[in-house]
Amino acid sequence: MKKLIAGMLLLTLLLVSAAAETAAPRVLVAYLSRAGENYNVGTAREGSASAAYAGYIEKGNTAMMAAVIAEISGGDLFEIRTVTPYPEDYASMLQVAQEEIDTDARPELAAKVENMADYDVVFIGYPIWHGRMPQAILSFIEGYDLSGKTVIPFNTHEGSGQSGTQQVLEQVLPDSTVLQGLAVRGKMAQEDPEEMRAQIEPWLEGMQMKRVRTDAANEVLATYKAIQQAMIDKDIGTLDRLYLEGTTFTHMSGKKQTKAEFFGEIADGTLNYYAYDIQNPEITVDGDEAALSASVTLKAKVYGSSGSWTLPVRAHFTKINGQWIAHN
Ligand SMILES: Cc1cc2nc3c(=O)[nH]c(=O)nc-3n(C[C@H](O)[C@H](O)[C@H](O)COP(=O)(O)O)c2cc1C
Repeated sequence: MKKLIAGMLLLTLLLVSAAAETAAPRVLVAYLSRAGENYNVGTAREGSASAAYAGYIEKGNTAMMAAVIAEISGGDLFEIRTVTPYPEDYASMLQVAQEEIDTDARPELAAKVENMADYDVVFIGYPIWHGRMPQAILSFIEGYDLSGKTVIPFNTHEGSGQSGTQQVLEQVLPDSTVLQGLAVRGKMAQEDPEEMRAQIEPWLEGMQMKRVRTDAANEVLATYKAIQQAMIDKDIGTLDRLYLEGTTFTHMSGKKQTKAEFFGEIADGTLNYYAYDIQNPEITVDGDEAALSASVTLKAKVYGSSGSWTLPVRAHFTKINGQWIAHN
């Protein structure tokens, strides 16, 4: 009970609002990609039958594209791997891919996305093989219920572009919203990552899938971190500066404290903070107003109880004289 009360009091510091906020869409970036010998990229290997036009790469082209999409969209990466790995050798790979097409194969996959239900948006990435998407992409799609989700294709190629795969996805996913995909040259992914990024960014922005923080959002996050650090350091001067006058701190129990009361308990050792960790911060900025929501873990000793608490946080900020200030 004591711990519970302490936990409730902690909420005070986090300016928690019980009201549910609209969460940002959860994004998965699933992709199939092959390292090894590939067309028009990498370093030619002596003895390879394809050395004149294919070289070895450490990381697949589509994997490179997927990493940038995940970074910018804030999505989780998932590599689609087959139980039987694909050959590294280019000539053998051409053959294996052709056989899979000829038999309309559904190669068995090595791992599953256990929490697919949690995702609203699923990017699906692949190379073009003989003018198509790899058959293993169909294995992936058929392994889940993607109805109601937004599906966004992306692919790499060496000249075929999307090669009709957009239409294939629209056909096999009639109950999903399939948005316009993006095709990038494999060679560009390998050799000009900045140009690839320059193509990916506006495409994601156009679909409102860009979650990279703006400078203002970074300032808000930095201010929130400064508050957490000031609580640890018992730096009342900084806390006083970063909280708006008149801010009240409401306990889950309903008890309210003023700034002076709250800071007083930090200063006199009633409330002690040792460490904080901010997970999945989402920041929205509208002019001089901002809101931050996150899951925050605090290690603390409050009213004699020690513990570590993870709590949902919603904090509001206003920019005054160039500084973001927290308030209710
Ligand atoms: C088996 C195979 C077939 C391919 N067929 C085509 C094709 O039809 N059209 C094309 O533009 N590129 C084709 N390519 C090139 C790949 O699409 C390109 O290298 C791609 O970027 C590879 O991505 P990855 O490194 O992620 O596997 C083929 C490559 C392989 C290995």
